[in-house]
Amino acid sequence: MLRLFVGIDLPPELKLRLSTLCAGVPEARWVDAGNLHLTLRFIGEVDEGVASDIDAALLRLTSPRFKLALAGVGQFGTRMLWIGVEKSPELLQLQTKVESALQRTGIPPETRRFTPHVSLARLRPPLGPKVQAFVEANSAFRADPFAVEQFKLVASYLTKSGAIYEDQADYPLG
Ligand code: 2AM
Repeated sequence: MLRLFVGIDLPPELKLRLSTLCAGVPEARWVDAGNLHLTLRFIGEVDEGVASDIDAALLRLTSPRFKLALAGVGQFGTRMLWIGVEKSPELLQLQTKVESALQRTGIPPETRRFTPHVSLARLRPPLGPKVQAFVEANSAFRADPFAVEQFKLVASYLTKSGAIYEDQADYPLG
């Protein structure tokens, strides 16, 4: 079985810049710089046959390249600190196409609304004042747009020291 997700990688310099933000919150378990990414669709555990159907479906997908800018910071409740993504119709279009491709392979539809973000840290409650201070201090964060020229299928292995991601395939955008 493989635990899969579809995501967009970030340029190394952007990962580096984001990783410099990752300090000063005792309740945060920061995402390793190398693991920073934008999830288009979490798939979960599938067997190898389904994984290869997913790969074939994603290979057939066509969508244009686009530029994407990270901006802002936020929290999902008490669980997660994230960096936001500027409004991007092209990103939503790509996500919709990925969702349709997955459904054609028999993956059950995603019921949760797509909220584009880059997870920075998982939080361990109870949360002290430094979480709010971090959000306020970084609310004006904005990075130069980067070119999204491909997306990828990634396997995630859960270990005691955190998730290990292994790229399975890259899918170029037109
Ligand atoms: P994230 O996008 O908020 O960081 C691999 O686990 C990736 O898929 C993570 O980046 C994770 O969260 C995202 N993801 C979305 N839904 C998930 C779920 N139900 N279980 C695990 N990961 C999920």
